[in-house]
Amino acid sequence: MAWLITGGAGYIGSHVVSDFQGAGLSVVVLDDLSSGLAKRVPKDVPLVKLDIRNTDEVAKVMRENSIQGVVHLAAKKAVGESVEQPLMYYDQNVGGVISLLTAMAEANVYNLVYSSSAAVYGSPGVAHVNEASPNRPESPYGETKLIGEWLIKAQAAATELKAVSLRYFNVVGAGDETLGDTSVNNLVPLIFSALENASAPKVFGDDYPTADGTCIRDYIDVRDLSGAHVRAMQWLENSATDYEVFNVGRGVGVSVKEMMQVARKATNIEFEYEVVGRRPGDPAQLVGQVENAHRDLKWQAKFGVDEMVTSAWQAWRAAHD
Ligand code: UD1
Repeated sequence: MAWLITGGAGYIGSHVVSDFQGAGLSVVVLDDLSSGLAKRVPKDVPLVKLDIRNTDEVAKVMRENSIQGVVHLAAKKAVGESVEQPLMYYDQNVGGVISLLTAMAEANVYNLVYSSSAAVYGSPGVAHVNEASPNRPESPYGETKLIGEWLIKAQAAATELKAVSLRYFNVVGAGDETLGDTSVNNLVPLIFSALENASAPKVFGDDYPTADGTCIRDYIDVRDLSGAHVRAMQWLENSATDYEVFNVGRGVGVSVKEMMQVARKATNIEFEYEVVGRRPGDPAQLVGQVENAHRDLKWQAKFGVDEMVTSAWQAWRAAHD
């Protein structure tokens, strides 16, 4: 018996692999290696290079490895790219979930933990969003994540499937120097990349209706986030409910300017940042209410922003030196 981690060679997926192994579970990684790295997968973990949309092959992998459950992370995740290439995002992310659910039904696999996103909320206009807050995604990326949730919920209602969707907030950090985020799409890697190029990190707008004028987000350490998947897997085993959604964040808002200060401390570089115009589509504030995960998953984040950014910097340095 083993758990299949799709996208297990990715930044978040490789941390999930590590935590599942730490919980004493056997894991198999399925990844097309389009952005994942084979070297992130431990030597003792089978790595199957496969596109999630290849339903028959995915079902075969499930049967051959006696898969008991799936953590599904294999997806495209860059918001800007999704605006430029919506069909590709729908094909990969929505097509991916349909294919996965079909393969799971064929192979009689009934447990699923799904990687969703706070992007399903869009610009909420409230201080903290809870799982019942309206879903108004503002990019094709967010739409595909929400449609994935709907597909899974419907399949859980119709079949024996039990599933949990985890809505990740802003993920930062690294559990180990080899597992850092190699994509340069998000605030913290963009700060590091600017520093590496001896240029000033950019703040996208300081005229938002927030205390210091910059956007507020709920930053969560990848080590805490991966732990939430283990708890979600345990919840599936013990709960009578078919389907549930949980926000996975710290429930603490941190502004971009505050993150710049954290990055100065973590890198030990006294850099100046440059304030530029707003980036279209950025909500002023997106922070989660995370009480449901505390109560039901018995999960709580442990790491703060200093630890997140310090661990991310160590991994960045190891990858770039
Ligand atoms: C990110 C992810 C999104 C995910 C969401 C979960 C991207 C592009 N976005 O959104 O997939 O679903 O978290 O909540 O992958 N900023 C700057 N300067 C920069 C970069 C960013 O000021 O150089 C600001 C942004 O305006 C924003 C904050 O930093 O206010 C965080 O931005 P980012 O890391 O891109 O994440 P989100 O857009 O919040």
